[in-house]
Amino acid sequence: MNRELDKIIRLMGRLYGRDISIYDVGFLTRSLDRRASATGCRTLAAYLVPLSDFEAEAETFYRSLRVSYSEFFRNPLTFALLEQLILPGLIAEKERAGRSEIRVWSAGCAAGQEPYSLAILLDELTAGRRNTVSFRIFATDSSEPELAAAREGVYDPAAVGNVRLKHLSGYFSGDGGSYVVANALKERVSFSVHDMLDEGSLCPPASIYGEFDLAICSNLLFYYRPDIRRSILNKLEHCLAPDGYLVTGEAERELVAKLEGFRAVFPGATVYRRR
Ligand SMILES: C[S@@+](CC[C@H](N)C(=O)[O-])C[C@H]1O[C@@H](n2cnc3c(N)ncnc32)[C@H](O)[C@@H]1O
Repeated sequence: MNRELDKIIRLMGRLYGRDISIYDVGFLTRSLDRRASATGCRTLAAYLVPLSDFEAEAETFYRSLRVSYSEFFRNPLTFALLEQLILPGLIAEKERAGRSEIRVWSAGCAAGQEPYSLAILLDELTAGRRNTVSFRIFATDSSEPELAAAREGVYDPAAVGNVRLKHLSGYFSGDGGSYVVANALKERVSFSVHDMLDEGSLCPPASIYGEFDLAICSNLLFYYRPDIRRSILNKLEHCLAPDGYLVTGEAERELVAKLEGFRAVFPGATVYRRR
C-alpha cells in the first residue's frame, strides 16, 4: 500500500470515524483518484488537504465507496441458466423429496432488482404445477435507504429495460411513467437489514435458520479486502444447504473459482454448487 493511501485511511478513521481499511486497495485508489480529479487535485498527497479540511468532501468520498447500482436480470447468462436449468432442477428435487419450500437469500440486494428478478422466475416456474412447491426469498442489505426503496418497489422505465414485456405486464403495474411491483410478488420477498461484515450473526436474522437452496451475492465482494471477502464467502457457505447453489457476479468470478467447497455448474457462468 502506498504512503498517501495509508495516510488517507488513518485520516478518515481519526477525523471522521470511518474505517475505510476494509476496502480493496485497487477500488479505494480508483475512488480516491476520481474525487481528487473532481476537486482539482493532481495527486493523492494534494487531495489530503480538502479531505482533512472539509467534512463534506470526506462524506462525498465515503459515499462514493457505497456503490448501490443494480439492474433487473443483471447478468443475462446467469439468469438464463437459473431459469432454464438451476431453478427447474431445484423444483423437481423438492418435489421428489416431498419438501415444499425453496429458500433463497439475496445478499446485498440493493433496491430489490435482484430478488424481484428471482421472484418473477420462481413464480412463473412454480405456478400451476401438480405438486405445489413454494418459495421464499430473504433479501438483505446493509443500507436502510436501499431496503426502503426495495420494499416500495417503484422503478422508472429505464430501470425495467431488461424486464420482458410479459413480465412487465404480469408483475408490475404502471402507466409508463413508473412501474410498481405487484403486491403478490412483494409478498414473496422479505427485506431486512443484514451487514455481511457482522460477525455476530451468521444468517439473515429474518430467516431464523440458514439452509438456503440458493444464495446470490453479486457485485459486493470485490469492493472488499481479500480477508473480508473470505469471511463473507464463509458466511454464505455456512448458510447454504449441503447441496445448495452459490451465485456471484462477473466481478467475483476469480474469487469463487478458488473456493474449494464449490464447483462451477456451467462453463463461463458464475453459478456454483457445493461439492
Ligand atoms: C453494487 S450493489 C449490487 C446489487 C446487486 N447484488 C446486483 O448485483 O445488482 C452492492 C450492494 O451491496 C450492499 N452492500 C455493500 N456492503 C455490504 C455489506 N457489508 N453487507 C450487506 N450489504 C452490503 C450495498 O449497500 C449495495 O446495495
